Amino acid sequence: MTTSSLSPRRHLAALPPYTPVLPFDVRAAQLGRTPETIVKLDANENPYGPSPLARRALADLRYAHIYPDPESRALRQALAEFVDVPADHLLAGAGADELIDLLMRVMLEPGDKVLTCPPTFGMYAFDARLNAAQIVEVSRALPRSSTSLLKEGQGSGEAFSLDLDAIRRAVEEHRPKLLFLATPNNPDGSLPSPEILDALLDLPTLVVLDEAYIEFADEALGRHKSRIMQVPQRDNLIVLRTFSKWAGLAGLRVGYGAFPSWLMPTLWKAKQPYNVNVAAQEAARATLRDLEERQLVVAHLRYERERLYRGLQTIPYLEPYPSQANFILCRVVGKDAAALRQRLAEEFGILVRYFAKPGLEDHIRISVGRPQDTDRVLEALEEIANEGIAN
Ligand SMILES: Cc1ncc(COP(=O)(O)O)c(C=O)c1O
Repeated sequence: MTTSSLSPRRHLAALPPYTPVLPFDVRAAQLGRTPETIVKLDANENPYGPSPLARRALADLRYAHIYPDPESRALRQALAEFVDVPADHLLAGAGADELIDLLMRVMLEPGDKVLTCPPTFGMYAFDARLNAAQIVEVSRALPRSSTSLLKEGQGSGEAFSLDLDAIRRAVEEHRPKLLFLATPNNPDGSLPSPEILDALLDLPTLVVLDEAYIEFADEALGRHKSRIMQVPQRDNLIVLRTFSKWAGLAGLRVGYGAFPSWLMPTLWKAKQPYNVNVAAQEAARATLRDLEERQLVVAHLRYERERLYRGLQTIPYLEPYPSQANFILCRVVGKDAAALRQRLAEEFGILVRYFAKPGLEDHIRISVGRPQDTDRVLEALEEIANEGIAN
């Protein structure tokens, strides 16, 4: 073997370097605090954790020493009832994240194109690059003050709304194989209208709706907002869902997707055999037996979202956007958003999310927590406001 053959795939050299997310306990130690005193509102997790039945299933786990069912049969059967889609259209994954990557691995030849509408969830572009695809970006309407990225004709619509005409033109010109859309979108929490979604589904491309947060959208558990029931009737629709948010199982890594029949055999061939572990499968199944409890948790979080939203509206240097998810994006006016994030962490032990991304440099995103978390974050933001000095 010559040393010149000792190199990773060439396209990976162009990937931005890996920036690890600090584990919660490490971040807490860095801030000189114990994890219990931190208010963690930076990753859209569920502060209530798993449902009681899911906790019990984990405590009673009997088969941790046996490999999991590679087809997640019992879980897929329970999901089929939950989402009203036949199990043979459903695939479980180690989080929706795994399914995004799996889908790209089976669909994309190097150089194929993936259309995304930034600002949005970063994994679409990350996985597209990993799979040597080209990314076609059709930006959402940016808030008026975020001029850094504004090009001619952009920024005219409601903040973060989709530019349907530009998407149509981009599909026509670039013929992307996949179009990824988070519904509701991360980081702003907006949900496109049914008319826009219908128009997108008429485009000649495979549309992936990422419904990671759909359970927090206006109808209970997102049943009516979701498009998942339409998957069996359409050849060009994929819907991804997760147990990370509404079900409080982010740490266990379990999600699922509904895919058209023509794609299922290839997904089965390409996935890792034991992709969803025993604990995750059991906890997810138990959650589906505990829907009344989850409905309450989702209702609490939705109520708290409105309380947080109203509170944020009273903070003079913040402009929150209405959200259909379990987080609220805020524009920061007259203060440096990155510095604000830093102060909240260091002085108050409150973690919120900042994105150094075009159109978002003057924003922070705050996940919805418990009532006491809302109180802490609003008190801190008010204290900073009352200082009357910009950072
Ligand atoms: C839009 C969106 N999709 C998918 C995910 C990842 O979900 P999972 O935890 O199931 O991998 C997230 C997580 O933050 C997200 O925001």
